[in-house]
Amino acid sequence: MTQAAAHLPLPDFRLADPGAHDGIAIQGVSKMFGGKRVLDGLDFVIERGETVVIIGRSGEGKSVLLKHIVRLLEPDAGRIWIDGTEITGLARPELFDMRKRFGMLFQGAALFDSLTIAENLGLGLKEHTAMTPGEIRDRASECLRMVDLAGVEDKLPSELSGGMRKRAGLARAIVMNPRYILFDEPTTGLDPITADAINDLIVMLRSELKVTAIAVTHDMASAFKIGDRIAMLSRGRIIWADTVENTRATDHPVVRQFVEGRAEGPLTVF
Ligand SMILES: Nc1ncnc2c1ncn2[C@@H]1O[C@H](COP(=O)(O)OP(=O)(O)O)[C@@H](O)[C@H]1O
Ligand SMILES: [Mg+2]
Repeated sequence: MTQAAAHLPLPDFRLADPGAHDGIAIQGVSKMFGGKRVLDGLDFVIERGETVVIIGRSGEGKSVLLKHIVRLLEPDAGRIWIDGTEITGLARPELFDMRKRFGMLFQGAALFDSLTIAENLGLGLKEHTAMTPGEIRDRASECLRMVDLAGVEDKLPSELSGGMRKRAGLARAIVMNPRYILFDEPTTGLDPITADAINDLIVMLRSELKVTAIAVTHDMASAFKIGDRIAMLSRGRIIWADTVENTRATDHPVVRQFVEGRAEGPLTVF
């Protein structure tokens, strides 16, 4: 990092009362893996109703950050509040209840190969609701229609294309009617046209379902299309968070370099 970049002030996301925040408050979260500090006292705040896109280089800890939000990973230090409840302090039953507020689309879509698409979508409903099998199937079909996948209920994941599997993953993320959706690289590995169709779907779901969304990507075209705000993770901290317009126009050297996809600049390649 150059002197100039190293001395840029970090945005301040410390809240006086994170337990009173309507949305997600992440305060002072650190995480090390095998002696490597991945998150380093990270602060960030997500407002109810917005879509935040987290950008950053591969290996910076974007997926690790998402997993902390639903406590699939435990922080070494720091605290996280969801809608005023400190998730880092919850015992298991309450944690599982809290996770029901989240829909997740993680890398690879992670559908169960041996279950049909309708069965994949119905897993959470079967486990966590009193819905009948008929109601579960109807709800699965309703969500499949939302992502333009009507008619694939009885297919296996292996019978669908990569783009269709992503859409099925999206349908599964919304099936429980979540308040929050976490997307981890929703368009990675898709051709540009399919990726753009997924972006359109994310925008549509966000406006129809009024969810709060956090999406991780290193694809700037996706980030600008789906985000209200763009946040950049670098060296374990959120070093930038601002609107799409301000992010496009910024002269912050690290953000600029990433946005333009240049190899030269304050971010060294190795
Ligand atoms: N469960 C884990 N055990 C050990 N190391 C991990 C684990 N998860 C992530 N890491 C490490 O943390 C760093 C950040 O990973 P990740 O969040 O996946 O990066 P990305 O920003 O590409 O999503 C990487 O060095 C990765 O190897
Ligand atoms: Mg990742």
